[in-house]
Amino acid sequence: TFSQPGQAFDVAIIGGGIAGLSVALRLPAHMRIALFTKGLLGESNTRYAQGGLAVAMGADDNPELHYQDTMVAGAGLCDEEAVRILVEHGPEAVQWLIDDMGVQFDRAQPGSDAHSTPDGLLLGREAAHCRWRVLHAGGDASGAEIERALMTALRARSSIALYEETFVSDLLVEDGVCVGVQAVDRNEVPFTIMAQSIVLANGGAGGLWLHTSNPSGATADGIALAWRAGAAVADLEFMQFHPTVLMVNGTSHLISEAVRGEGGYLRNHAGERFMPRYSEQDELAPRDVVARAILSEMLKEQTECQYLDLRHLPAEKMHARFPTISAICRQNGLDLATDLLPVAPAAHYCMGGVLVDTEGRTTLPGLYAVGEVSCTGVHGANRLASNSLLEGLVYGIRVADHLTASAVLNDGHTNSYHARKGVSTIIFDSASDDEVPSSGNANERSPLEIRGELRQMMWQYVSLRREREGLLTARNQVKTLQALVLESGNEERQLSPRIAETINMLQVAELVIAAALERRESRGSHWRSDYQTTDDLLAGRHYAFQHSRIDP
Ligand code: SIN
Repeated sequence: TFSQPGQAFDVAIIGGGIAGLSVALRLPAHMRIALFTKGLLGESNTRYAQGGLAVAMGADDNPELHYQDTMVAGAGLCDEEAVRILVEHGPEAVQWLIDDMGVQFDRAQPGSDAHSTPDGLLLGREAAHCRWRVLHAGGDASGAEIERALMTALRARSSIALYEETFVSDLLVEDGVCVGVQAVDRNEVPFTIMAQSIVLANGGAGGLWLHTSNPSGATADGIALAWRAGAAVADLEFMQFHPTVLMVNGTSHLISEAVRGEGGYLRNHAGERFMPRYSEQDELAPRDVVARAILSEMLKEQTECQYLDLRHLPAEKMHARFPTISAICRQNGLDLATDLLPVAPAAHYCMGGVLVDTEGRTTLPGLYAVGEVSCTGVHGANRLASNSLLEGLVYGIRVADHLTASAVLNDGHTNSYHARKGVSTIIFDSASDDEVPSSGNANERSPLEIRGELRQMMWQYVSLRREREGLLTARNQVKTLQALVLESGNEERQLSPRIAETINMLQVAELVIAAALERRESRGSHWRSDYQTTDDLLAGRHYAFQHSRIDP
């Protein structure tokens, strides 16, 4: 469906993963909704989620235990209220997903002794969870099942105008209020739509790093859109690196944490099971701990990977529990159950994002954010496994209910962001705002080459270990790359999503580096080799960035 330029909607949603689709499907059918996806609907990080969705539904579990695990993993930086909402509303949100949206989670066979909820839903175990708590579907195809069900529900809702393969290039702001979006359709024809409320739900930034578990579309567009429109972004120094991404034939396929939850070991090249040297929780320590332990072993041995070992576990059961991973291994000449699997950490999830309050309101009136693109504070400095689908779902529903109530009350944009505790706002001038010197034709590089250089550089200087010198080098290189890409004409930039994505990536890289320089301590996923301890004074302290063209 393509609207005429300037068509007006009640709500425009950007992004088609669990967050965006939950917002769209929870809003009442009489509301006029536009939903934008830059690829085909369904091509989102949600689809690739393997482990599943964490929720306190086991007989031996409760939201308080889930709260405590989330807070501990978040390393002193979780927003308490946001986490309470997440864990307490989790069970009812999951019930909505099952009853109203038709998601089919895996169920226990009658009489089986597998871990399950009183209703018979199977539960998986993942790192840093004190209980079996993770709902899954199709074994390790959890995200694909959720996306399938939500897409089916969406296509049945004729009141939602779906703009697929449509790239949102900018947000429209009038008198300090976000009022619409500027987009480019699949034929590179630009158009605008206006909306009462705009919801960013377009995911994270894994694509900024050379090695990532994310699909290629994770180019940080949402954070860049919000930043350019003048909204504050926060906690961008916290990027989670998943410990186990398969390293074979240049692939970057995730090997779910649930594999370690079922008893998989990590071994170095000497065959030693090394995790007990790093944590009492062994292979089920929080992600940042496991990822850094793997990196330490790699550096010590001067190797490119470590190994995941399932050889001591029942082969048939492993193939049945992890059909997707089993097939990926087979395609790469490996048997999941009998071979040592080469793995290494890779960029996985952005804990920071567009600063929001517990209703999803950003600091820019009219603009909301939900899911990975947002920073609610539920993940703190390190996200607990399988809390991200839950966040997209719970906060997606919450934003939709809030928009519905606001429409009834007709309180529109007087309904503004509630300041969060512990957030210090830093006014920041982006290098791309400056006059850029021409680099001359000798330096001409395509947007894709520039993107490749950026990803290499982010991997080298801004990944699991950071220090001031490296971050300064990275900052300078981003400036150089920004100058190169900005040489392409303005019009071309607006019309070519590939150029616009590269500009977005560079913009967000610049902000990630600035945030990483600002946080002079090690905490959660952010490890500074020049500040190796955690500074107690910085617990609960978030850095938000906003550009100087907006009044603070
Ligand atoms: C995994 O299955 O390990 C990924 C789950 C997550 O990132 O929460």
